[in-house]
Amino acid sequence: MTRDPNDRDDQTATNRRGLSRRGFLTTMGTGVLAGTAASQLSAEAGEVPEVLAADAFAKVALSINGRTHEVLVEPRWSLAYVLRDVLELTGTKVGCDRGECGACTVLMDGVPRYACLTLAVEAEGTAIVTVEGLMDGEDLGPVQQAFVEKDAYQCGYCTSGQIMAAEGLLRTTGDPDVERVRHGMSGNLCRCGAYPHIVQAVQRAAEMKRAGGAS
Ligand code: FES
Ligand code: FES
Repeated sequence: MTRDPNDRDDQTATNRRGLSRRGFLTTMGTGVLAGTAASQLSAEAGEVPEVLAADAFAKVALSINGRTHEVLVEPRWSLAYVLRDVLELTGTKVGCDRGECGACTVLMDGVPRYACLTLAVEAEGTAIVTVEGLMDGEDLGPVQQAFVEKDAYQCGYCTSGQIMAAEGLLRTTGDPDVERVRHGMSGNLCRCGAYPHIVQAVQRAAEMKRAGGAS
């Protein structure tokens, strides 16, 4: 079971007990990578790297859908975990949790990113947009509307990620042809095979945005 970052009793109890074996093992993978990268950067800059205890919490300020959220996170926590389980922004889905399906796609500084492969600490300082952030008040944004209009889903599990990938594509390409849409959406899998309708929806969303319905 994963600890609640804002539960101080849980944090204090864990610190008293020391790091569990499981916590040590699960933290090591990310910790080693982050430590290596930090060491390289610091070595280049001629600085002594700061080393966080394996079970330490870091306070990060995440800009999500135009609002800043200050949260306590473990260095190993993914952005997808923090969005869903800490901030309860459950529009972002987790499918594979290892960078294969695209269900967790969000925008970071306008670019589609897999939230399951992004550490929450890494996302600080960027503008994050989730599927909730594409709403226009109570109304759907153009990409969301186009997916409904073109019936571009069956079970709907991949749809949040598809919509965010489409939004990212349309922010750089206003009038994509079919090949460009396929290429732009190629990081997002749909087990229901709704691809033909997804392509239609992305082109319809492009039309709507050109007509002034941009989010
Ligand atoms: S859940 Fe992130 S890519 Fe599959
Ligand atoms: S609509 Fe079911 S996985 Fe895409």
